[in-house]
Amino acid sequence: MLLFKKVDQLQAYLSKQRAKGLQIGYTPTMGALHQGHASLVEKAKAENDISVCSIFVNPTQFNDPADLEKYPRTEAQDIDLLTQLGNDVLFYPSAEEVYPKDIVIPTFDFGPIDKVMEGFYRPGHFDGVVEVVYRLLDITKPDRLYMGQKDFQQFTLIYHMIKQMNSKTELVVCPIIREEDGLALSSRNVRLTAGNRANAPIISKTLSSLNDWLQKDTVRTVKEKAIALLSEVPDFKPEYLDIVDGYTLQPISDFEESPYIVACAAIWTGDIRLIDNIILKKLE
Ligand code: PAJ
Repeated sequence: MLLFKKVDQLQAYLSKQRAKGLQIGYTPTMGALHQGHASLVEKAKAENDISVCSIFVNPTQFNDPADLEKYPRTEAQDIDLLTQLGNDVLFYPSAEEVYPKDIVIPTFDFGPIDKVMEGFYRPGHFDGVVEVVYRLLDITKPDRLYMGQKDFQQFTLIYHMIKQMNSKTELVVCPIIREEDGLALSSRNVRLTAGNRANAPIISKTLSSLNDWLQKDTVRTVKEKAIALLSEVPDFKPEYLDIVDGYTLQPISDFEESPYIVACAAIWTGDIRLIDNIILKKLE
């Protein structure tokens, strides 16, 4: 695997590959890699000639300084995993490389999409995500960009950003990879206490029950029931559980209202914040 820390070196390499007609698949990450990240890299590798992965813990998207400080950093293990996966290029830049002094990032208009859920509860978070993904795409100019459904609102915003940029990059969204007990893989899971780790699968179990419950009850009743159930779990503090239109991310009040419905949740378990989601309906 090739490792580049400098933007100009990565760009020189990639432009040579592009000149040969090779296609580039790109997976941005913040490291502490797990099988969720691996599934993106594997798909990038399978669908392109060259798989590029980046590891950059982007300070501008952490609205909570303690979260940034405690974010797990596992460089040697990450390099091992990417090597095993046959990833071709690792971009491992410093903050100075990603954010040189003269950098100008355009602003994008997402309407109401970035105001709800994560956008509401983590002010400034998506400004940082959009800023870094814009910059990383400008550096790598991939044919395909690989992102996870795990961060539903994140990939929706990046989809709109790419559209507004008139970019040729295709966004490929990959399914959520879970532990056997249903817990969605996340770099933050290693920080859960044993007790909170044992209860964490209740989040995905609750999300999986929603479709059944929606056969019998209104969206509002089902949402209240789910939040009540999650609130009873020791150390759980649900921040939100919203049932939304999958395109606009706005809450729905009737299950027949939209062809694409997703439930998204953020739950504090002790001092760790976990997010998860489930697609409840998607009519083509
Ligand atoms: P990070 O949390 O490292 O995630 C990198 C990518 O892996 C994201 O697209 C995320 O949705 C995906 N991912 C995480 N857990 C997953 C799982 N269990 N199954 C499938 N995919 C999963 O998301 C970020 O980093 C950052 O915000 C980033 C986009 C890199 C910008 O800094």
